[in-house]
Amino acid sequence: MTPEDLQDFAPIAESLRRSVRGYYAEHGESLEDRAGLTTLETNSGFVERRAAPLIEILTGNGTGSLAGVRLLDLGCGFGALSVYFAAHGAEVTGIDPVESRLQVGRAVAAKYGLSVDLRPGQMEKMELPDSSFDLAVQNNSLCYIVSREGRYQALLETHRVLKPGGLLVIRNPNRWNPRDQFTGLPLIQLLSPHHAGRISKLAGRPRSNVRLTSPREGVRELKLAGFDEAAHVPSPSSRWPALLHPFARYQHLTARRPG
Ligand SMILES: C[S@@+](CC[C@H](N)C(=O)[O-])C[C@H]1O[C@@H](n2cnc3c(N)ncnc32)[C@H](O)[C@@H]1O
Repeated sequence: MTPEDLQDFAPIAESLRRSVRGYYAEHGESLEDRAGLTTLETNSGFVERRAAPLIEILTGNGTGSLAGVRLLDLGCGFGALSVYFAAHGAEVTGIDPVESRLQVGRAVAAKYGLSVDLRPGQMEKMELPDSSFDLAVQNNSLCYIVSREGRYQALLETHRVLKPGGLLVIRNPNRWNPRDQFTGLPLIQLLSPHHAGRISKLAGRPRSNVRLTSPREGVRELKLAGFDEAAHVPSPSSRWPALLHPFARYQHLTARRPG
């Protein structure tokens, strides 16, 4: 099966579901509670839906199609999105610090003959050559780097490995949304990661250690790392009026390495 033939992602999503189940069984962890089932679907049944805005932004910015494009998936987790991009013809490299999870995406990619190379590592310091990718994606991953210096390094490294003119797309929960996406509590994401963590713990809803930014802060970080054309773009599926885009649940940022 060639990537061009992969119009129907359903069998691949099913294969991801089996592989994620296998991973949790092997690690003696349960997937039966609500969080577990969300993790399972996030990495299988929901992949197509999660990837749709990213694909639209990636292909709408001059690339046209992902066929033959070199794409870097930073903080790829199980590699489910990497597999999806490869099913659209991209040659994908994924990076994540949790090596054991990469087996999931590797196994599914091998089964369907997809071009996916998943490597352990951190986006702040990547063992990848300069100027080697057309596109880079950070989906729900940059927010897990909390220190400002770490985030700067991650963006500098991404800038280094993109080809001149290469495009970066970042998607993260939005700090300016009235509700914290990690706990459902109102407004606590406006506090520092430390204080948000303490309050969520006291409220009995422990929160991942993350730093969320406003769209404006996100754009500023990109410019500081040397990117051009840094912009906050509305989610392609958004039906909100433009005035409300800065407050959407998720923010999408795009930027280019100067060409
Ligand atoms: C919520 S998951 C998102 C996974 C994937 N991007 C997706 O959307 O399915 C966040 C991922 O970021 C990864 N991550 C955290 N810190 C990282 C770092 N410094 N460099 C690369 N990845 C990192 C985590 O290991 C985790 O897999």
